[in-house]
Amino acid sequence: MGDQYEVSEAGASALTIPSLRWEELPEGPVVVLLDQTRLPAEEVERVCTDVPALVEAIRTLAVRGAPLLGIAGAYGVALAAVRGFDVEEAVEALAQARPTAVNLGYGVRRAAAAYRAAAAGGADAQAAAALAEARAVHAEDIEASARMAEHGLALLGELLPGGGHRILTHCNAGALVSGGEGTALAVALAAHRAGELRRLWVDETRPLLQGARLTAYEAARTGMAYTVLPDGAAGSLFAGGEVDAVLIGADRIAADGSVANKIGSYPLAVLARYHHVPFVVVAPTSTVDLETEEGADIEVEQRPGQEVTEFSLPYAQGPGVEAGAGIQVAPLGAQAYNPAFDVTPADLVTAIVTEAGVVSPVTRNGLAEVCSTSRWS
Ligand code: MRU
Repeated sequence: MGDQYEVSEAGASALTIPSLRWEELPEGPVVVLLDQTRLPAEEVERVCTDVPALVEAIRTLAVRGAPLLGIAGAYGVALAAVRGFDVEEAVEALAQARPTAVNLGYGVRRAAAAYRAAAAGGADAQAAAALAEARAVHAEDIEASARMAEHGLALLGELLPGGGHRILTHCNAGALVSGGEGTALAVALAAHRAGELRRLWVDETRPLLQGARLTAYEAARTGMAYTVLPDGAAGSLFAGGEVDAVLIGADRIAADGSVANKIGSYPLAVLARYHHVPFVVVAPTSTVDLETEEGADIEVEQRPGQEVTEFSLPYAQGPGVEAGAGIQVAPLGAQAYNPAFDVTPADLVTAIVTEAGVVSPVTRNGLAEVCSTSRWS
């Protein structure tokens, strides 16, 4: 191992409030979210008493990130069942709230299947079955997160035997997207705890700043040495030899190993290849969609143009800054191209780290095999 890097005692845990929890209140059960639109300025919870509130939270990214969307979707079905709302309507609304992260449909489908399978037992049994399944999806994600961190740390040791890793990440793939410590950021955190992380380079992640707001928040809380950079500055970091590996999460991985992740991931993969730097994707097998044959088949969410033509900061604070107010930056009427995700072809991906093991090289067969050995396949 190379140099040891300091691990701060304070802030060892990435979050003070869980990213999502189910709570039984006297007036009925609720899904409580840590509102990610308000971080890092405020740690505020959002209480969802019904499915439309949860769908709204998903659409506006108050709750976000592939694994957490799966957990939210499953609890959403349970919420509808326990509170006596129309479950089939809830299933439809939740599954369609955002199109790209396959985990959302996965979580919804699992809770819905449990609900339907318990039909003979009546409404209470169905509600109990849906809730038990949502709890299982949640628990599995916590365990998957821990396994990915182990596998990812071992892989980093093989790829970068000298230690002292300088890791570049994009978007947010930490505790905020998970019941556990996340995917890509969980691996960086494991490296940090092992004294092997020299620097975490954090792409700000335009236009919604999941990197500058959320990954930086988690990095600060866990005491990692981190630096935020504009997305466009990554190239000069590579050119200067300052990046040892790229670690990102995924929203959907097609059967051919193509990876959909936050817009700006694909350019990083191209840069990494040019500069001979490993490009590693960390995602649970629930993010692998073997029914989607190839990358071109992945539906990419297109988001409102105002996210690009305005600075619209729902979390903005300070004198004269009204939260939620958009500040026009492009000429009025300017058109915007604002896909939320891009797709990186498999041949640019060095490895995919899952809870069931590492796929490298990334091949259709390798991916199918790791999925078949997953406990939850
Ligand atoms: O639009 P978001 O913030 O939901 O996008 C999230 C990402 O792209 C993450 O990188 C991805 O979900 C992986 S998180 C484990």
